[in-house]
Amino acid sequence: MGEHLLLIGMMGSGKSTVAAILAGRLGADLLDTDAEVVAVTGRSVPEVFVEGGEGEFRSLESAVVRRLASLERRTIVSVAGGAVLDPCNREVLRGAGSVVFLRARPDTLAARLGGTGDRPLLAGAPEGRLARLAAIDAARRPLYEDLADVVVDVDNLAPPEVADRVMAAVAER
Ligand code: S3P
Repeated sequence: MGEHLLLIGMMGSGKSTVAAILAGRLGADLLDTDAEVVAVTGRSVPEVFVEGGEGEFRSLESAVVRRLASLERRTIVSVAGGAVLDPCNREVLRGAGSVVFLRARPDTLAARLGGTGDRPLLAGAPEGRLARLAAIDAARRPLYEDLADVVVDVDNLAPPEVADRVMAAVAER
């Protein structure tokens, strides 16, 4: 098993914020898969979705995930919400280190995301953002739970408290 710490979960669960806190505390490197896609393409995530569709985004995302296998320094990884849909990505994540699922209720996700325009999967959503998030969460929840070594319920917790729980849970393993 690798030595990295990988945060998975839905958009709005706090992965990027908590990963940055953990990287600071542990003196580890930080990698955010969405930020890598942006760095590689020079485009924002919504631009990649508009210009190349979700398919192009997912293949760029998978290329970033594959690179996790060869990172040399210990790295805290914020894994974008949809990366777990690809079985090959799940295999890489499993082998890369400890996988922590930041689990949140859909209403928590909706409240945290507010009206943000930077999540293409929430664009439009005539059924409402809460219903859209609940549907995506229901479809992915079994994948997140199956992949996770540790689950942290993040509802009502501020990011530093989530980081405390992640550190405690990982230390116990
Ligand atoms: C997505 C999550 C986003 C981003 C894209 C698609 C998803 O990342 O990759 O909007 O499919 O859940 P975050 O989970 O970091 O928000």
